Amino acid sequence: MTVPVSIDDLRRVARRRLPRIVFDYLEGGALDEITLRSNTTDLATLRLRQSIMNDVSDIDLSTTVLGQTLRTPVLISPMGLLSLFHRDADIALARAARDAGTVFVHSAWSGMPLKKVAAAAPGAVWCQAAIWPDQRLVDQHLDRAEEADIPVLVLAGDVSVSSKRERDLRNGFTMAARPSPRSVLNAATKPRWVANFLFGPKITFGDQSIDGRAMNLREMGEFMHDDNAAMTWDDVIRIRKRWPGKLAVKGVMCAQDALRALDAGADAIFVSNHGGRQFDAQPSTTAALSEIAQAVDGQAEVLVDSGIRRGSDLVKMRALGATASLIGRPAVYGLVHSGEAGVAAVLDILRDETATALAFTGNTTLNNLNASALAPRTNDASPHATHTLHTP
Ligand SMILES: Cc1cc2nc3c(=O)[nH]c(=O)nc-3n(C[C@H](O)[C@H](O)[C@H](O)COP(=O)(O)O)c2cc1C
Repeated sequence: MTVPVSIDDLRRVARRRLPRIVFDYLEGGALDEITLRSNTTDLATLRLRQSIMNDVSDIDLSTTVLGQTLRTPVLISPMGLLSLFHRDADIALARAARDAGTVFVHSAWSGMPLKKVAAAAPGAVWCQAAIWPDQRLVDQHLDRAEEADIPVLVLAGDVSVSSKRERDLRNGFTMAARPSPRSVLNAATKPRWVANFLFGPKITFGDQSIDGRAMNLREMGEFMHDDNAAMTWDDVIRIRKRWPGKLAVKGVMCAQDALRALDAGADAIFVSNHGGRQFDAQPSTTAALSEIAQAVDGQAEVLVDSGIRRGSDLVKMRALGATASLIGRPAVYGLVHSGEAGVAAVLDILRDETATALAFTGNTTLNNLNASALAPRTNDASPHATHTLHTP
């Protein structure tokens, strides 16, 4: 196998190895996938300003996020059902993050118990909670997080409703495991994945149980469909009162919500459109970020994800005002490639690319970056070509 040199190399391996139905679950977005595409295209159309003859011999990528100093300036976002991709799933991501000196966020819909994942990589795991309609479930999860010494809780803010992901519907990707005949035929061409699925550890719901046993896939499906359309900022305020650690709210996509999150006591505003998997009529996070960062004005940290595939993307997000960036799918490409080692390769690639991009901008740390690192865009047909630079 050739050595992967980019995130896209790893993505191609994942596409080859996974049954179409599973790859589409990973890759797909809501409806027409417009937001999904704009996450990457808007980042790609942003340009960085090159500056030469600066002493860039001593690059320091370390950055402090919510009180934790990270050696690698990219974290891993929460993702549910990772057991579909590799038997080590969350544990591989958590260990690779720990070894790279960064953090993995355990999903509220993970197939592995929080306690087990946190114990595999102490200090390198944050966790997500959802505002489930049954408050007792939320409180139980907060207790679990406290017991596991989790420093940061990431609230799933953008799941009041679930979007239609048409690839999944067409493929018959349902938790009741009713794949379409075409999906079954295609899976038959990926015997390695099928063998692991059939004979590997059973896929269950890590922290939710029924009568003392972990939920199975079908039961998980029913549980996950139980959206909480009635949730409001009052729920965030209640959780803030109960949770002693740092709190981030994920899914903030406008300045007004960022200010509401601040009022509710959030320590971090997590700008995310769920990697284009939820609301398909909204902008990329790149397009939303600077307005939000300006509104927050240093009162909280600003995290961002969705569409990051290159080290230069991390530099761009920083220049737009993010404290730190996170990746979702790229970490899974690494996981599919070679488990923990593959995730480590992803973090390595991004770290190397970030160092080089930073040096080209004439900087030795991410900490002093601001919009002046962004070059004005000309001859650019993108819908965001009029993006104004907030040069100090
Ligand atoms: C397979 C998959 C599962 C996901 N599950 C969750 C989840 O459980 N909770 C959540 O808040 N976001 C979830 N997300 C969204 C990610 O946290 C993140 O926002 C998104 O993947 C970032 O975009 P990127 O994949 O382009 O980097 C999921 C994303 C993927 C690809």
